[in-house]
Amino acid sequence: MTEYVELSYAGQTIKLPVLMGSEGEKGIDIVKLRDQTGLITLDPGYANTGSCTSAITFMDGEKGILRYRGIPVEQLAEHSIFTETAFLLINGRLPSRDELNRWSVMLNDASLIHEDLQVFYANFPRASHPMLILSSMVNALRSFYPELQTMEEEIDRTVTRLISKVRTMAAMSYKISRGHKVVYPRADLSYCANFLNMMFDSPVKPYEIDPVIVRALEVFWILHADHEQNCSTSAVRLVGSARVTLYAAISAGISALWGPLHGGANQAVIEMLTDIKKRGGKIAYAIERAKDRNDPFRLMGFGHRVYKTYDPRAKIMKKMCDKVLTRLKISDPLLDIALDLEQAALKDDYFISHNLYPNVDFYSGIVLRAIGIPTNMFTVMFAIGRLPGWIAQWKESMDDPNWRLGRPRQIYTGPAETDYAAIDER
Ligand code: CMC
Repeated sequence: MTEYVELSYAGQTIKLPVLMGSEGEKGIDIVKLRDQTGLITLDPGYANTGSCTSAITFMDGEKGILRYRGIPVEQLAEHSIFTETAFLLINGRLPSRDELNRWSVMLNDASLIHEDLQVFYANFPRASHPMLILSSMVNALRSFYPELQTMEEEIDRTVTRLISKVRTMAAMSYKISRGHKVVYPRADLSYCANFLNMMFDSPVKPYEIDPVIVRALEVFWILHADHEQNCSTSAVRLVGSARVTLYAAISAGISALWGPLHGGANQAVIEMLTDIKKRGGKIAYAIERAKDRNDPFRLMGFGHRVYKTYDPRAKIMKKMCDKVLTRLKISDPLLDIALDLEQAALKDDYFISHNLYPNVDFYSGIVLRAIGIPTNMFTVMFAIGRLPGWIAQWKESMDDPNWRLGRPRQIYTGPAETDYAAIDER
């Protein structure tokens, strides 16, 4: 039976239906609110606003739960591989063995990129950030792959292309930025092993593929694969709602992800830890700055809009950090600083009262650094991982009969009607 919320305003009472999600989350359906009352709702940052119903990812920020299509992320990190998780997100179920094999073959077949794209790379100024290059290149891909006959074929092919080629483009941009020979994808390697090989193989020093490092990358990408209606995903859905191409919508998502409050935090964490190291490892300084209301500094890798407890992804990433550093026999002083910082913050009243816990970005940078990924490519790594989520969310929005052009309203606070003043009279 439908429940209702009653809203009384200006002598009139209206009933608004209460919607219930499959995990008991409730929301008020305000679709008719403006028609019935002339009112809109105001919610900066959309912290209380649901933009859609979605069957892809479930998060419970109070309990620290994250599930893709119902499956806990901990189980996927333990048993799945990234391409299987991508299939799960996009298609709504785990693939059969045959489907997974076919998907891997399709990804391999699509892994080369048009040679002409290398000219684009070569002409970006050397100091360009890889996220800037990636968002431009993803949009540019459309001109190399014109629309196909049927919508179904178009979506299938575009999804495969994007997931496969973004990985090739990321590795290629790294090689070109270093002035090194581009390494092509190999059909005999898995998705993750292929990426590592394209990044680090060289004519003078062949890259040795280490299963522990490949597994670390699988887990890193699985943990980043979706996170429901976050900033970049909302950007993909909103831009997509104008019926732009999937390439353009994903390019918008990449741009949003780049921000330091979002995916750019993994780079910012390493920069912060490096700065603390330069100051002699004094963590108290960073803690005090983060607590100072007059200082814009924040403890990067801490806090989350939804999680009010330890981010479940951060727990897995912390363990992965130990495994990778042990395997590579690396002792990273930044990890020691991170561990001290975490301990100090978790005991501090400010962080406790604000529910600020480490998020996925806090330890992921240390894992990526150990693997050899340069700091300015950390957010690109996040983007490759998030791609299946963006695609799944975009696809869901396109199939949703209630999905309309995204067009929020506003409460206007500017001047009342004012006459135009001629230039000499101003
Ligand atoms: N360090 C210090 N204070 C913080 C932090 C932090 N990292 N995060 C939030 N706060 C404080 C903030 O100052 C405010 O305090 P007060 O209420 O006393 O004025 C309060 O907590 C609420 O902050 P908010 O900005 O309103 O919270 P939000 O939900 O909008 O912010 C956030 C979420 C992730 C933007 C924020 O926690 C932050 O800036 N964290 C650092 C950046 C970061 O690590 N981002 C990665 C997020 S996880 C990856 C992803 O999924 O994108």
